[in-house]
Amino acid sequence: MGARNESLYGRFLAPVVENFLINKESLRQLDHQIDWETNVHRLTNPQVIYPHYYERSAFHGIEKGYLCKEAALSYDPIAQYALPPNETWVRQGLIEAIQGFPERILDLGCGTGTLTMMLKNAFLGAEVVGLDLSPYMLTIAELKSETECYNIHWRHAKAEATGLQSESFDLITIGLLLHEMPPGIAESVLTEAYRLLRVGGEILILDGNQKVLRQAPLLADIFEEPFIRDYAQCSLDAWLGAAGFGAVQSLDHWLVHQITRGVKGVRSQNPEEPLFADIEAIEEPCMG
Ligand SMILES: C[S@@+](CC[C@H](N)C(=O)[O-])C[C@H]1O[C@@H](n2cnc3c(N)ncnc32)[C@H](O)[C@@H]1O
Repeated sequence: MGARNESLYGRFLAPVVENFLINKESLRQLDHQIDWETNVHRLTNPQVIYPHYYERSAFHGIEKGYLCKEAALSYDPIAQYALPPNETWVRQGLIEAIQGFPERILDLGCGTGTLTMMLKNAFLGAEVVGLDLSPYMLTIAELKSETECYNIHWRHAKAEATGLQSESFDLITIGLLLHEMPPGIAESVLTEAYRLLRVGGEILILDGNQKVLRQAPLLADIFEEPFIRDYAQCSLDAWLGAAGFGAVQSLDHWLVHQITRGVKGVRSQNPEEPLFADIEAIEEPCMG
């Protein structure tokens, strides 16, 4: 994975994970199986301008962050150890918190598409879009979905400015993304999600537990995560409320994770306010 030495992961865990827990030979085989140049070129949206923080941050100690094949190849093998007690169980918690029966689903910051594919599996008739800023991560996501014969649309774009049509989704999910960006950008992502959801649509977020991260700051040092301390000082509930969502609720999920849900068009904070007061304000031209 090429982790640097500053994080606890880089200093202590990387040698164990990379030398004993990851099957390097299968990663080499996967690497050789992929025509990176062709796929990255095909999946790249030439209109995307990478935000400064994204291009410059060494997420997880990888120098080029998510903009390289090493990040994409090593993501799934590491993620299975980074989401205790069990990656699938942790992700399934988000799926089980969904209350509606969505027909159009958007997974923002989908990465290698593990959660996106679980969503497709849970709602087989739904149209599912996975959106990410790294064409390398999307390359792996697409390969995985083709292998499993899942019809998922993979889109290269910024979660904070997707270019998708307003009010075109019933469900938006965000898995492990918001702790990886400056808080101001995370808030813009939620504002964009609000614009994209139809009235009554749900947003579901799976991420690090902010309360626990505040109480045990050492946890923030495990992986090299440049923005996780800022994330820990904030409140997803407050962010969702500020973006316009109602019925906002966060649940602790196996202590170190949290699942947060909100609904567009349902206001729970101020009962005096009309329920759909802000809907007109999101009228925007179709950019999709
Ligand atoms: C930790 S990974 C999470 C991936 C996936 N959601 C999961 O649950 O495993 C964060 C992902 O968010 C993507 N990302 C980061 N900033 C983004 C942005 N502004 N817009 C879209 N994707 C972004 C990264 O490229 C990376 O694939």
